[in-house]
Amino acid sequence: MNTFPLEPIEKAGVDELRSLQFKRLKASLWHAYRNAPAYRRKFDSAGVHPDDFRSLADLRHFPFTTKADLRENYPFGMFAVPREQCVRIHASSGTTGKPTVVGYTRGDIEMWSHVMARSIRAAGARPGDLVHVSYGYGLFTGGLGAHYGAEKLGLTVVPFGGGQTERQVQLIHDFRPDIIMVTPSYALAIADEFERQGLDSRECSLRLGIFGAEPWTNDMRQNIQRRLAIDAVDIYGLSEVIGPGVANECLETKDGPTIWEDHFYPEIVHPDTGEPLPDGEFGELVFTTLTKEALPVIRYRTRDLTRLLPGTARTMRRMEKITGRSDDMMIVRGVNVFPTQIEELILKQPVLAPHYQCILTREGPLDHLTVAVEAGAGLPPEHEDVRSAAERLAHEIKVYIGTSAHIDVRPAGGIERSMGKAKRVVDQRRL
Ligand code: DLL
Repeated sequence: MNTFPLEPIEKAGVDELRSLQFKRLKASLWHAYRNAPAYRRKFDSAGVHPDDFRSLADLRHFPFTTKADLRENYPFGMFAVPREQCVRIHASSGTTGKPTVVGYTRGDIEMWSHVMARSIRAAGARPGDLVHVSYGYGLFTGGLGAHYGAEKLGLTVVPFGGGQTERQVQLIHDFRPDIIMVTPSYALAIADEFERQGLDSRECSLRLGIFGAEPWTNDMRQNIQRRLAIDAVDIYGLSEVIGPGVANECLETKDGPTIWEDHFYPEIVHPDTGEPLPDGEFGELVFTTLTKEALPVIRYRTRDLTRLLPGTARTMRRMEKITGRSDDMMIVRGVNVFPTQIEELILKQPVLAPHYQCILTREGPLDHLTVAVEAGAGLPPEHEDVRSAAERLAHEIKVYIGTSAHIDVRPAGGIERSMGKAKRVVDQRRL
């Protein structure tokens, strides 16, 4: 299936990879220490120095970097090069406070385009393919990240961006792209729009979707693959580390994104204690950049929960599909609940559509979870089949997740569509 030649490093043995990582990590620690005063202060106050890094295992002695560090040094205070040497700035809005600002030198853009091209190729794209990009362009890294990578691989790019769903469908219908790059939740909105226009979404020209920027389950993958008759592949990344293209699933295995370890060194740590955990154990994903110039990040706490798995289609390690961010975890009457757990159960009910939101309220001293979900299969919410599906859903949430939930079934279109990342949790408890 993967006839396009791989880069030598994608086929390198583990020893070669580890020695490259060691060399690059050392250089990255020195770069941060010498050129970013904020890192020098952090290292000094933790009593560590780049000279203390003698093997990969020594990384654990270096302090973590968090979103708070970036916010405290807003906007450009963590940069390790003068701002004038940056050719691009991106920012993620975040839910509270100041945005997180990231900068790129020309070399960073080159590296990012390279790992994105590698990602898109691993997903099954080939030069000459036509790709429709519906990730947002602008401060969000999705659109431009996808764009530069796709151009580098030799694809023809339609830089649509987010929104105008009706027009997206018209252009997909007319231009006949092979590939779409978009958030999984918005892919579903596009599939719905196909049907609204009386078109069969399975008959569209697409053969591949490269979906990411938000958690989505394997059941959601099956659903999207069925509705659009495509292969759906997972792409992972975050602005602080580079943007999309930190890791990408390989088409031939679809078993969790392969981390491009020659540029991004992963660790899993205990979310509360920060202790590094061995491969295979669940915890918080942490990244150190190995080749970034403008904004090297040392042990950046992603807040994403997953585990590291051995390589399959490549020697580099994989991460298991993200089950959730610690930020998205709801605590309902003491029970930890992730939206993806609810998503899996919704997808077991064919007469419910997987557009959903978890709404948290407080009634007296008690937390209350409402799962708002749309009726599917062209049925109204009052339909007997829909009502019994809602009852089954409530029952399964109780049995499998251990919390009571009220199911609010809404008509098609009743859940607000996001043009990018879906908002899965609405917490009204603090209002
Ligand atoms: O979402 C970059 C991106 C764009 C990735 C397009 C993939 C495709 P941020 O806005 O900084 O960057 O958000 C990063 O999104 O820490 C995860 O919580 C989440 N995320 C990104 N990709 C995935 C994924 C972009 N494949 C945050 N699965 C990350 C689950 C994801 N969550």
